Amino acid sequence: MAYETIIVDIEDGVALIQLNRPDALNAINSKVVAELADALAAAEVNDKVRAVVLTGSEKAFAAGADIREMSEKNFVEMFTEDFFGPLNEAFLKFRKPVIAAVSGYALGGGCELALMCDFIIAADNAKFGQPEINLGVVAGIGGTQRLTRLVGKSKSMDMHLTGRFMDATEAERSGLVSRVVPAIKLMPEAMGAAKKVAEKSQVAVMVVKEAVNRSYETTLREGLLFERRVFHALFATEDQKEGMQAFLEKREPQFRDR
Ligand code: HXC
Repeated sequence: MAYETIIVDIEDGVALIQLNRPDALNAINSKVVAELADALAAAEVNDKVRAVVLTGSEKAFAAGADIREMSEKNFVEMFTEDFFGPLNEAFLKFRKPVIAAVSGYALGGGCELALMCDFIIAADNAKFGQPEINLGVVAGIGGTQRLTRLVGKSKSMDMHLTGRFMDATEAERSGLVSRVVPAIKLMPEAMGAAKKVAEKSQVAVMVVKEAVNRSYETTLREGLLFERRVFHALFATEDQKEGMQAFLEKREPQFRDR
């Protein structure tokens, strides 16, 4: 599929997906949704892709859902089209790790898009916000749920009710992002992190993603049991033997995803 609103490059096991609607600060419209969903589905079955980095431009990761496209829609259209639903499903189905590299604005659906990724690396100019309240609506693709789990009820309520933006320092302090780097270092940092992940045993990487995500879905007791069982299961892999043997022999492991 030839894309109009995103650019995809694959390098050293990492698919770099860049939102490319500079005139609209990467606002997410139906085309972006369809193309992102398609790119993730393609990455899932591409053996050359072991991790994904999702980014925008220096000024905006994404300034939200496309207000121009949404403004005239009515309830029946939004509901029957399941507006933005396919994007959520595409991320939920995707089993390889996705790192969001956020520079500039990540607002509304843009903040929620970053939250759908497995972790966020932010440039020091990043600004996160859920300003939908200013448009007379609310977050619609995870903001009230995912942001609340990361930053807690008080800060999440503050963001959603006042519509204020959170800068990168506050976002890191609050647990929304894993690292903050100077804007100029954002892409090397994110690509470096993704390439590091791409070097690991892919089966172990996919198990990490499942197990951490499971912590949001279940009780602590069930989650601990799930973790212990998948930990046990990895002893059926050649990569476990190789990883531990390499440590004992003081050399780098050569993982073969088996
Ligand atoms: C459509 C957008 C847009 C958006 C910016 N643009 N955000 N177009 N949808 N979400 C367009 C502007 O209309 C403008 O186009 C161009 O991008 C540049 O934006 P400016 O406003 O001129 O830039 P600036 O003054 O620097 O202000 C940047 C900004 C502001 C603070 C990010 O653009 C802004 O407040 N944007 C809206 C943010 C927002 O409310 N997001 C939530 C959307 S609702 P022209 O043609 O005039 O040059 C949402 C719901 C999610 O996301 C739920 C999903 C189901």
